[in-house]
Amino acid sequence: MSFDIQKLREEFPVLHQQINKKPFVYFDNAATTQKPRVVIERLNDYYSNENCNIHRGDYYLSRKATEAYENSRKTTQLFINAQRPSEIIFTRGATDALNLVASSFSRKFIGKGDEVLISAMEHHSNIVPWQLACQERGAKLKIIPINQSGELIMDKYYDMLNEKTRIVAITHVSNTLGTINPVRQVIKAARQKNIPVLLDGAQAVAHMKVDVSQLDCDFYCFSGHKMYGPMGVGVLYGKEEWLEQMPPYQSGGEMISNVTFAKTTFNDLPFKFEAGTPNVADVLALEQAILFVQSLKYENIEKHENNLLQYITQELQKIDKIRLIGTATEKTSVISFLFEDIHPYDTGVILDKLGIAVRTGHHCTEPLMDFFQIPGTVRAALAVYNNKKEIDLFTEGLKMVRKMLV
Ligand code: ALA
Repeated sequence: MSFDIQKLREEFPVLHQQINKKPFVYFDNAATTQKPRVVIERLNDYYSNENCNIHRGDYYLSRKATEAYENSRKTTQLFINAQRPSEIIFTRGATDALNLVASSFSRKFIGKGDEVLISAMEHHSNIVPWQLACQERGAKLKIIPINQSGELIMDKYYDMLNEKTRIVAITHVSNTLGTINPVRQVIKAARQKNIPVLLDGAQAVAHMKVDVSQLDCDFYCFSGHKMYGPMGVGVLYGKEEWLEQMPPYQSGGEMISNVTFAKTTFNDLPFKFEAGTPNVADVLALEQAILFVQSLKYENIEKHENNLLQYITQELQKIDKIRLIGTATEKTSVISFLFEDIHPYDTGVILDKLGIAVRTGHHCTEPLMDFFQIPGTVRAALAVYNNKKEIDLFTEGLKMVRKMLV
């Protein structure tokens, strides 16, 4: 291992506590990751020393906060290798970014009889906004099917692309299964037919390098809080050519150029899509999260998380009556499973008594649960600060669940 996990864990204050008199094991990282000191301290520092509204105050602290906010935009641009800072829109999170595109893009580019492609493994936040947009525009939502391992059936996808397809919107990584989708092939096929592609990267950016220029995607969305940053901030990357043509999503202060009662003209990118007072503190803390991830280096993160995934998969397979859900060849460190007929919630309750936090249920992917014909799963989602000792505590816990319930 190329970095010291013990030292890394010291950076995350929340990990060092006991829950139910047991060491806290946090395996719910797909729901949200814990925050390192640099992120927590940036929030504290901003509110203690710099708090001001931005882009509208002609005094020292406001100018300083504006500069810091725009620097965070530049850091974010470089982080995902966008061509320009104006292609980075700060949002409330990935859900907000997805709603922005579904609402604004559809008003301009989707009409009656058109088609929108999503996949069978999408999170509700990449289903419902498109469902609403399609209903409004009289368009059809088409679903790219998956196989029993939880992988896209690419031949079916290729067949579904046609002259009515207006956009392909799929997740980069599945929050429930951990599947890493073959997004390069997805984009290449769509590009040949001039169809734009949106990627929901909420579950990707903490685990792998994302380069939107190399991917050549049209939109990329992610949340700060799933990559060691604060809640309440997210990012929409959009190619300038699309963002320029799309109508505003929300309206209010700062997104305008001129307002009269007769007519309003709109501000330039990215401000056209950032109505109202922005979430300055969280944007500044997001920058710290980005710098933190970059300091760890993705090659180290991937190596460590792949080792954890292999280990947890191998240990779970040794336990009788466990059924893994999501066995794709390309996966991040997420493992979903069921104990034969035991409801996932019951497993979760016992693990909680042992100080172990997992998510149980449908994980906001109800259609995926319908596909597997299950009520939900137990999901362990591992992050860079997790270790094998925690996996051992988890598998011991599962053996106890089996003794009590199976
Ligand atoms: N989307 C988050 C999850 O998968 C909340 O848990």
